[in-house]
Amino acid sequence: MVNYKVTIYTGNLATAGTFGNVSIKLVGTHGESKRTRLKGAFAFFRGAVSSFTVSCPVSIGKLVLIEIDKSRFLLFSEDSWFTAKVEVKSPKFDTYNFPIYHWITDSEVHRFREATALRIFEDNHPLGRYSREQELEQRKEDYRWDVYLEGIPNCMKAEGPHSLPNEVRFSFTKTTEFLFTLSTGLAELKLKGLSDSKENWPDIEAIHHVFWHKRTDISEYVHDHWKEDAFFGYQFLNGVNPMLIQRCSTLPKTFPVSDDMVSLSGQCSLADEMKRGNIFLCDYKRLDGLKSNIINEKKQYLMAPLVLLHQTPDDKLMPIAIQLKQTPADDNPIFFPTDSEYDWLMAKIFVRSADFNEHQLNVHLLRTHLLAEVFAVSLLRNVPMVHPLYKLLAPHTRYTLQINSLARALLISEGGFFMKFAASGGKGKRTLLKRSLSSMTYSSLCIHDNIVARGLEDVHNFYYRDDGLKLWDIIYRFVQGVLSFYYKNDAEVQKDSELQKWILDIFEHGFLSKESTGIPQSFTTMAELVKFVTMAIFTSSGQHSAVNTGQFDYGGWMPNAPTTLQLPPPTRKGTTSKAMMLQTLPNKGTAANGMAVMWLLSKQSSDFVPLGQYPQDHFSEKIPCNLIKDFQASLQELSAAIKARNKNLEVPYTYLDPREVENSVAI
Ligand code: FE2
Repeated sequence: MVNYKVTIYTGNLATAGTFGNVSIKLVGTHGESKRTRLKGAFAFFRGAVSSFTVSCPVSIGKLVLIEIDKSRFLLFSEDSWFTAKVEVKSPKFDTYNFPIYHWITDSEVHRFREATALRIFEDNHPLGRYSREQELEQRKEDYRWDVYLEGIPNCMKAEGPHSLPNEVRFSFTKTTEFLFTLSTGLAELKLKGLSDSKENWPDIEAIHHVFWHKRTDISEYVHDHWKEDAFFGYQFLNGVNPMLIQRCSTLPKTFPVSDDMVSLSGQCSLADEMKRGNIFLCDYKRLDGLKSNIINEKKQYLMAPLVLLHQTPDDKLMPIAIQLKQTPADDNPIFFPTDSEYDWLMAKIFVRSADFNEHQLNVHLLRTHLLAEVFAVSLLRNVPMVHPLYKLLAPHTRYTLQINSLARALLISEGGFFMKFAASGGKGKRTLLKRSLSSMTYSSLCIHDNIVARGLEDVHNFYYRDDGLKLWDIIYRFVQGVLSFYYKNDAEVQKDSELQKWILDIFEHGFLSKESTGIPQSFTTMAELVKFVTMAIFTSSGQHSAVNTGQFDYGGWMPNAPTTLQLPPPTRKGTTSKAMMLQTLPNKGTAANGMAVMWLLSKQSSDFVPLGQYPQDHFSEKIPCNLIKDFQASLQELSAAIKARNKNLEVPYTYLDPREVENSVAI
């Protein structure tokens, strides 16, 4: 007899264990074992690691897959078993690993492949091929595309968070649903009782007093500095929305600022400074004409401003002109720092409120959450677990379907929280999302290309760029290492039909087959593949962190990021006042609701996994495993460098510190 030692790892999660009777069959290149019942008290309880012997008359050759089933124990009802992995040692001491990481909830036979990655054209074992096809057939049933809204990326078809397949639902449901309720946020911020208030703020410090229960170092800094022009400019580089600012070499026709209107530090002219590359523009044209929300039966106001900024000789980015609407007109004045205190401050408040709405729907929701969902659904539909791309990307899709499903159900739905506090809630949301899609080009998703396209290579104190480029390069090296271990030439990339289906599904369902986005429809070279996969990981990890984590830091002091505004902007200069500002800012109830959601969305999840940490062993070959270690070392180095840099900064920039970046879009 030939004995195989089988070790089964049950996941260490709540309700992961089973009372059921577990059986296994080993399938090798030269035969298979009998279906063998694995007996042992408590052998499959939560966190258990249990070993068994499976005997065969002769060697069954190299192991290809295992078949596992779990039947009910006596009169117990069917339970769910989270199997982490299985390890099999042959009599010749060869070790075979079988990554599983699935809930087994029925009595069916489930097949799992040995961990060595196989592309479809090298998968020659008949039963291996069959199980590959079966897996994808089932996945295509479980993960179907749906249209949430015409004109934006498709999403996963699901009735709601509860109807997601087990493998993507996980233990997450309890924790996140608990966190993701408005009342929890209100309770944590001690704002219960305030959420229905229609009262305006009596004075600016009353806002601080009400929101003092939760603060971060940065939200305190924001409270102290929000009115300062230099800090207003700084946020376009290192706040939660570093994606809009661009170098300005010609003024848009809609923004008629002339030399004599502005006074620049250093006594230079606007035209000269533009030539030198020191003038920058933020243009919120996407918001133009958007139908704004109605909150508590009151019309809200959302502008589409243009902001001109000057990089000064002492490396500050100073706003020099603001126009709040796109069409120049007498009742649409251009505001300057030399205007009265409240004229200028109100102009900046309207810009910050526009930025909140542009950031949440375009930069955050569309460009990270919805996009990461597209990568995930396409992966699950088209790429089997044994494929190297699945092994590489699966950790970067964790919880994304879950969080987006929750967001669709509770946050951005017709009656969702976003309606209660955001100027772009309601019809405006649809229009803004649709308009944003056309700007979601491939190059805009690749940080190197994006920084060049926006002319931001030389801007000073731009930490999003500095850290983001380094992070992209580290991810790129890792992806290139792993993929070039499997793909020896471009021809192999071209003939991998599963890989090609993955990108085609992304093109069709994520970018709605728009060739103008520059998104590839197929991969012809290794270089194309490596760049795209790098972008997918960067978007799901670093980019999401850059635009998500600082939401409470920069929005925790409400006047710095008003979610909506209650009055229109001034149409003439010299008509504003402190009282008008207080009537314009969101009232107490609206501010409390907005704050509660921002607080919850900025919280690190309880089972946060930082970028590059892979608790699930999907790879087994030595080279990819070593590449993971190199990846982790590079990330650690970057983290140390960012921490050292931050020590000397007045406002530390932590959002792209790999230690703070989550592997996937999970909140
Ligand atoms: Fe997020």
